[in-house]
Amino acid sequence: MLRSTALVALSGLLATVSAQQVGTNTAEVHPGLTWYKCTTSGGCVSQAGKIVLDANWRWAHTTTGYTNCYSGNAWDASLCPDPATCAQNCAVDGADYSGTYGITTSGNALTLNGVCDPDGCDFNSYRQGDTGFYGPGKTVDTTKKFTIVTQFITDNGTATGKLTEIRRLYVQNGVVIQNSVNKIAGIPAVNSITDAYCDAQKTTFGDQKQFQAKGGLVGMGQSLARGGVLVLSVWDDYAVNMLWLDSQYPTDCTKDGCYRGTCATTSGVPTDVEVSAASATVTYSNIRVGDIGSTYSGTTTSTTSTKSSSTTTKSSTTTTNSAPGGTQTHYGQCGGQTYNGPTVCASPYTCQYSGPYYSQCL
Ligand SMILES: *[C@@H]1O[C@H](CO)[C@@H](O)[C@H](O)[C@H]1NC(C)=O
Repeated sequence: MLRSTALVALSGLLATVSAQQVGTNTAEVHPGLTWYKCTTSGGCVSQAGKIVLDANWRWAHTTTGYTNCYSGNAWDASLCPDPATCAQNCAVDGADYSGTYGITTSGNALTLNGVCDPDGCDFNSYRQGDTGFYGPGKTVDTTKKFTIVTQFITDNGTATGKLTEIRRLYVQNGVVIQNSVNKIAGIPAVNSITDAYCDAQKTTFGDQKQFQAKGGLVGMGQSLARGGVLVLSVWDDYAVNMLWLDSQYPTDCTKDGCYRGTCATTSGVPTDVEVSAASATVTYSNIRVGDIGSTYSGTTTSTTSTKSSSTTTKSSTTTTNSAPGGTQTHYGQCGGQTYNGPTVCASPYTCQYSGPYYSQCL
């Protein structure tokens, strides 16, 4: 359903791929990209990584010449009657990263100048009922640079435990922003992905349980343990114009789950986007992998809303993440064996144990 213009893998996370022929028309030179490995005790250490473009975007041609193995949207029927024969007859060529694909790197930053996949289990703040949280000028202001933190929590807090929860934080202007909380009836009022959330969300929205059928969080954790590829892309969608992401979709549906963002139902047409936004760019930088809490820093903000009959007043107070005696905000972390932040929750919340490595203010 979806099409991406560039897929990038960090070397070292890649599994070996066998039986693919190498084309030599263009020399393959992987651009370097520094990323970081972090530990709670030792801080972050830079790693000399490289990126590689997915084969999906490369020229596949005959090993004996330059006849296309793939044209338009179809594999050549005689060269590629089946995958094994195709891999013997065809070679995948090198990529001119900057010239052909607009992919450049500098230090720890990757700039992309601008495939079918089944549904996962999503947490789109707008779709989950908080329409003011993520977007231009919103709590997480997407017009400005921000950090995305994804935390994979296991049942026993080690990298070999069972994956039980995926948490999301944002950091912008030095402030840690807790993910928004689900507001849709029928789904728990939580701000992270767990199997219970996924089950309730799919049932409430009437979505296929593809994620569960493919193993759910435990299956995803096992997959991550085998090694994964981090995909960074800028893309458009020929199947449904990306409306599933940030518009109303299906476009005639008015039920919970169909409102996904503020974009018009007429937007996102690839032939429009590729002209009107042909010079759009995105830069990803400072990629870090490490112990929970070791990859970012920032202050936590507690926001209280006071509602009177005619006005809404919003006030913010800021506490330092690691300040002894500081209080944690609603839904923030307040305990766990590798956790160093505040352990007392702002009133009226209390610190509730959800496992040896994670407690949360609820
Ligand atoms: C965590 O769980 C995994 C999988 O069950 C197990 O192999 C590992 O020994 C556990 N680690 C600790 C410290 O309990």
